[in-house]
Amino acid sequence: MKDKNYVKFLRQTSPYIHSHRGKTFVIAISGDSVLQSNFHSMVHDIALLQSLGMRIVLVHGARPQINQRLALSNIETRFEQHLRITSSEAMLCVKEAVGSTRLVIESELSMGLPSSPMHGAKVRVIGGNFVTAKPVGVRDGIDFRRTGEVRRIDSQAIKHQLDDNSMVLISPIGFSATGEAFNLNYQDLAAQVAITLEAEKLILVSDSRGVMDKGSLLRTLSLPQLAELLETSKDVQQAGLLSAAVHACQSGVERVHLVSHEEDGALLSELLTRDGSGTLISKDYGEAIRAATIEDVGGILALITPLEDELVLVKRSRQLLETEISRFTVVVHPEGLIVGCAALYPTADKQIGEVACVATHPEFNGQGIGSRLFDQIEFDARQLRMSSLCVMTTQAAHWFLEKGFVSAEVVDLPANKQSMYNYQRNSGVFHKAI
Ligand SMILES: CC(C)(COP(=O)(O)OP(=O)(O)OC[C@H]1O[C@@H](n2cnc3c(N)ncnc32)[C@H](O)[C@@H]1OP(=O)(O)O)[C@@H](O)C(=O)NCCC(=O)NCCS
Repeated sequence: MKDKNYVKFLRQTSPYIHSHRGKTFVIAISGDSVLQSNFHSMVHDIALLQSLGMRIVLVHGARPQINQRLALSNIETRFEQHLRITSSEAMLCVKEAVGSTRLVIESELSMGLPSSPMHGAKVRVIGGNFVTAKPVGVRDGIDFRRTGEVRRIDSQAIKHQLDDNSMVLISPIGFSATGEAFNLNYQDLAAQVAITLEAEKLILVSDSRGVMDKGSLLRTLSLPQLAELLETSKDVQQAGLLSAAVHACQSGVERVHLVSHEEDGALLSELLTRDGSGTLISKDYGEAIRAATIEDVGGILALITPLEDELVLVKRSRQLLETEISRFTVVVHPEGLIVGCAALYPTADKQIGEVACVATHPEFNGQGIGSRLFDQIEFDARQLRMSSLCVMTTQAAHWFLEKGFVSAEVVDLPANKQSMYNYQRNSGVFHKAI
């Protein structure tokens, strides 16, 4: 990265750093994440977040490590209702696996060699008996034995440690009032910790890049959509992840992020950049934003035809829309209605993209849908290595000016757009460097 890019990057991240400072983030990392080759960097990124003033509670899983210990001891366990049935002898393996996984994380957080990213970090990691557990018991005739669930979280004790600038590391084992240890699902545990602490965010780091729909990543998701996905999900890992997210969101955690452990730096870009890297599940957003598919043509036409009739947008036939559907991004209401759309077209100049057909359903104006669509288009354009955007508009000039566009002339447009310019429409021309 050139020096100037560093400066730009720091300036761009500073609003996020300011707004996250002093906030509590519960980060759940799967046992698989600990085995990743870039786990080292992930832990250092977490230490960096703490040094920027975020209060971090780290909850870890240990499923593959437990499986390995069980295999070594020739103990078979089975899963029911997404939970492992833990016998007393299996519990010994669970304790060993969880203990050694915890040590791996603690040792990573203790590094401090000069010329390493951890130099000077001095992360104080605290653990303790913060989690009171109770047995899951017998459900539908199945005895889950030493598998437990959270009964209580000692939030006061955790907050006390966070106030003292320590990072709290919580392992997926809880103790009952009788002093017995129980095997806990780390995702449920993390959700419960986030709820009890009234955390700003729950961040679930796993092999999942986020929630996918028809091959594309959903960057934001509403609770009803998430609940629907959960009903159809057959993947145990994904179901556990999604159910923890739903539970946390329903119980007051404003934002839940799903972040991949495979992508180096995904955690930092999710928390410190506008583009993010995974899926954000939020109570506030009723709608999801995604790439349009051929099934959306009818919904887009219903949205834009009235605007075309008023000459606000250029007329597009169904056939043209079908051909160009891959250029469109849509915002879909939880009930399935398309409430916003926007398109990004390539031009004769590869560096310049054209933003077109930005529209929000009139009943949904002023809720940030147009802005979110534009952010997505800008993100996509950067991914396509475009360096600027142009737009022609008759009615929304000021809206684009507020998005950082500046006025331009027809001669500034790429050649193919100049030749197609409709002088009768007399649209204003604007461009923006991205
Ligand atoms: C422009 C448009 C997409 C904005 O959608 P939206 O979802 O309401 O936008 P947001 O909620 O992100 O932004 C709302 C803000 O923009 C302002 N705004 C909305 N339309 C505007 C316009 N045409 N000119 C100037 N400002 C506008 C609103 O007043 C509001 O500002 P406020 O928060 O200060 O009150 C929508 O008004 C629309 O569909 N317009 C008709 C189609 C069009 O002209 N498209 C552009 C051609 S490509």
